[in-house]
Amino acid sequence: MSEAKLEAWHEENRKFAPSAEFAAQANAQPSIYDEADANPEAWWRRQADRLTWEKAPTSTLEWDLPNAKWFSDGTLNASVNCVDRHVAAGRGSKVAYHWVGDREGESRTITYADLQVMVAQAANALVELGVVAGDRVAIYMPMIPEAVVAMLACARLGAAHSVVFAGFSADALSSRILDSDCRYVITADGAFRRGAPSPLKPAVDEALRSCPDVKAVLVVRRTGEDVVWTEGRDYWWHELVERQPTEHTPEFFPAEQTLIIMYTSGTTAKPKGIYHTTGGYLTHVATTHHYIFDLKADTDVFWTAADIGWITGHSYIVYGPLANGATQVMYEGLPDSGGKDRWWKIIEQYKVTILYTAPTTIRTLMKWGEEYPASHDLSSLRVLGTVGEPINPEAWMWYREHIGANRCPIVDTWWQTETGGILVTPLPGISVTKPGAAMRAFPGISVDVVDNEGRSVGNGEGGYLVVTKPWPGMTRGIYGDPARFLETYWSRFPGVYFAGDGAKRDADGDLWLLGRVDDVMNISGHRLSTTEVEHALVGHPAVAEAAVVGASDDTTGQAIVAFVTLRLSADDASKDQTEVIEEIRAHVARVISPIAKPRQIILTPELPKTRSGKIMRRLLRDVAENRHLGDVTTLTDPTVVNMIAGLMGSHTGSED
Ligand code: WTA
Repeated sequence: MSEAKLEAWHEENRKFAPSAEFAAQANAQPSIYDEADANPEAWWRRQADRLTWEKAPTSTLEWDLPNAKWFSDGTLNASVNCVDRHVAAGRGSKVAYHWVGDREGESRTITYADLQVMVAQAANALVELGVVAGDRVAIYMPMIPEAVVAMLACARLGAAHSVVFAGFSADALSSRILDSDCRYVITADGAFRRGAPSPLKPAVDEALRSCPDVKAVLVVRRTGEDVVWTEGRDYWWHELVERQPTEHTPEFFPAEQTLIIMYTSGTTAKPKGIYHTTGGYLTHVATTHHYIFDLKADTDVFWTAADIGWITGHSYIVYGPLANGATQVMYEGLPDSGGKDRWWKIIEQYKVTILYTAPTTIRTLMKWGEEYPASHDLSSLRVLGTVGEPINPEAWMWYREHIGANRCPIVDTWWQTETGGILVTPLPGISVTKPGAAMRAFPGISVDVVDNEGRSVGNGEGGYLVVTKPWPGMTRGIYGDPARFLETYWSRFPGVYFAGDGAKRDADGDLWLLGRVDDVMNISGHRLSTTEVEHALVGHPAVAEAAVVGASDDTTGQAIVAFVTLRLSADDASKDQTEVIEEIRAHVARVISPIAKPRQIILTPELPKTRSGKIMRRLLRDVAENRHLGDVTTLTDPTVVNMIAGLMGSHTGSED
């Protein structure tokens, strides 16, 4: 074998078995797969006993495609499961969150007993404002403990929370408030980012101009900056919440009570309000958290480095870990707030044992250099996880070597907003992992890889990832749009859930995720649809037409590249093109979020179209990724593409 071939062989056959010591003590033992396979529903029903039910369910699954009910005759309260029951069991003094602020030196320790008081007071305050079971409450907050408290207070009252990532614009916030008819908003005056205050309340004020039905806004004082105040609508958290009684008697709700609404991008311009209910979701996230991260609640310090504005934060900062009584780190800042070794400092200081983050962050940390982790004691770590996008083997290996000291199992976890919790993953202590492979379905979960006709592919082949049986954490639908739910997920292949991801089975039958197969882009692990960004672009007065593609990017996984034709007024024509491009980029940030800002905008007099007038995205992606252009004969005007390719080098937006 030539040296290059030998190297390739080693790459493909690189496998890492868990140590015998880890395996012996792991929560998941190899028999778990057979136990679950024997009767998945019965297995999930046993997992539901991890929760404290007021009335234990006698039913397990009721399935009428695409509508699932799990444990439907059971009743419970999610906040009691996450907080009160741990205090009642004598674990009130256990730390729930070591909260670490963006600014160095700022931290808070919140025990389960503290959390119980905070949630009770917040629930009492929401009752005073008029919140009742079945209401929807929007939460637009930075990563502070009050964000978790706000979520749990809603859950306690049987109201669904719709958390909107605080990086989203006023427009994005108002459309989400309107779509699910939220009557209450919980927010903060602002957040801290790399030490500087960054306002949030003005975006809420702007959003609410088009949301006349919002009755009350509860505002946490975080930065102390001046805010505009609407009397009779706005309430300070420190005034209203902190004067409330410190006890609140919970009510219990049916397992299928809506707990969460979380908007996520689909293939159209309108984000989907994915909703989750209580009993199945909590069972799913508590069970997966226990086995996949091997959580030992008494000794572990768990850290999901994500924002509560995404599903990862919901399932693995709030509901899963709290249901399991874990001690966590919750961090407000960016990976380099206060220096490029900030994360490693936090791990050293709090003796973090389990770290869960996204490949894009790992690649950034990798770029900064291994001297940063090397200068800190990371020996407390014992399990590492990743989520959000396919992880490239190089980043996986760096994570293993430089963070995990070649000792910590890595769990590459595949899931989605829609799935509620992890579905495909290795299990530490069992799986012989491969860099870049998510390996296999979690116990009790059935997935398959199918071809265009829905036939299961063999080992060594690729296709579409589908889930073939209902699972407890699955979304119960798209808020207010059952037809779109059926159409998007349950119509591509009969009888199974279509995830929208490509996947391959390797020679051993293990799964590798290959990214989206639709017009959903994955930018630093954030989902955005090409149409959503195109809509924002054409909303700018200077833009006539726009086409957006996700081009591969070394750090962010994918990056947005926009091809734009201008409708130039006399005024614009006098402007420098770079100025126009910057204006358009800023416009997209304003309309959606800074995360949606195109990395590059390419101005072109025409877009390449098929004879039927469809924009040729595949071709634009090739152009954006500098690939060979292939057959362009179906273009109305083949010269357009070559011209666009020529423009790539010249008119690019600045990177920031
Ligand atoms: C992608 C995040 C490969 C995938 C929890 C999915 C992944 C989308 C992985 C969901 C992974 C998530 N390997 N791809 N381990 N995890 N994805 O809804 O394309 O924000 O469809 O949920 O992220 O993104 P969402």
